[in-house]
Amino acid sequence: MAWAWCIASIHITKVSYQGSGHTPVALAIPLSHVIWAGLRLMGHCPKHSLGTGSSTTPGTVLAQVPASSEVVKATSREDSQCCVDPLSAMEQEDAIRQELGSLHGIPLYKSFIEGWPQVKAFQARPDDLLISTYPKSGTTWLSEIMDMIYHNGDVEKCRRDAIYNRVPFLELKVSKSLCGVDQLENTPSPRLVKTHLPVQLLPTSFWEKDCKIIYMARNPKDVVISYYYFHQMAKIHHDPGTKAEFLENFMAGKVPYGSWYDHVRGWWEKKREKKILYLFYEDMKKDPRQEVQKILQFLGKELSERTVESILHHTSFQEMKKNPAANYETMLPTLMDHSISPFLRKGISGDWKNHFTVAQNERFDQHYQELMAGSDLCFQMEL
Ligand code: A3P
Repeated sequence: MAWAWCIASIHITKVSYQGSGHTPVALAIPLSHVIWAGLRLMGHCPKHSLGTGSSTTPGTVLAQVPASSEVVKATSREDSQCCVDPLSAMEQEDAIRQELGSLHGIPLYKSFIEGWPQVKAFQARPDDLLISTYPKSGTTWLSEIMDMIYHNGDVEKCRRDAIYNRVPFLELKVSKSLCGVDQLENTPSPRLVKTHLPVQLLPTSFWEKDCKIIYMARNPKDVVISYYYFHQMAKIHHDPGTKAEFLENFMAGKVPYGSWYDHVRGWWEKKREKKILYLFYEDMKKDPRQEVQKILQFLGKELSERTVESILHHTSFQEMKKNPAANYETMLPTLMDHSISPFLRKGISGDWKNHFTVAQNERFDQHYQELMAGSDLCFQMEL
């Protein structure tokens, strides 16, 4: 379905709250809209079906993706008009929006919640590697690094498909045919698996099979700003409101995947007993070579200096920003509008200083101290 793209960082969606009571508002989506949008994404539009030569497995959709070594230009807004759309632009946008429900107390897209039984029963394989993050913490960056490592720095192999298909999104569920679990079942080992689930909701088979897990955390001030712009550009969302309103919702955990504080702390505690490599976006910015070496050591893998160099170059912000297999510009413009804000937006640490007022920063700091009290987990708010 249209929400498929959210495979991306599907953490998308604005929580619509009414008044001060913050009661979620339900939105009915006409079935015809959903089916139409689904057909578009399922490749029934010639310009927006998947590219040839991809290793894409069933359940992958979203967009056109380059065949290996093919140079792909991002889909233009005009391209998106290639189909005769039975819906007006406004209706199209309504069709892809989704409200949040609650999964064991965590705000989550309703269709994901509907697919939860399948996710809960997911059978991990011992050689799966799980990439876990709170949304907007550098998931795509880490995913690209991991795919490059898995392919020994072969850039062409890493252009075989869009990042959201190379690293399937575990809990994605938007229709029968668009389902992260199904996609993963059709992915050969060794698999890279993406999730944003809080630690307590991770399917138990990952623990039973003793899978390796890499968690990446990012400071909350940059996360909330990144999340705000993402809500604007990703059409699955409702209007996130003002920055001040979104900041309040974020601090209260009333955004998809809930409380950032609970998420980072939960995974941090878990690493005391399980095989988890806990990384920080800020460290990766400061010294990516060192962080890639940490990953290699964690994997028990050695790569030549030259290969590491190539990985660092290919996964730099500038390179990923112009790489259609990594920058989400292959996504339908009706789903992501990069002209509002590109998916690879700024890629820096400390951008929050351009957005927070002094008062907001003071309030945020106080709230942060309260919610992080008693934890030895520390964040660098700027570099
Ligand atoms: P900004 O919005 O602050 O620019 P996710 O993949 O979890 O959705 O995270 C998206 C954030 O990671 C965006 O942050 C994006 O720009 C940033 N990002 C993606 N690739 C990056 C890279 N190679 N280097 C630095 N930041 C990157």
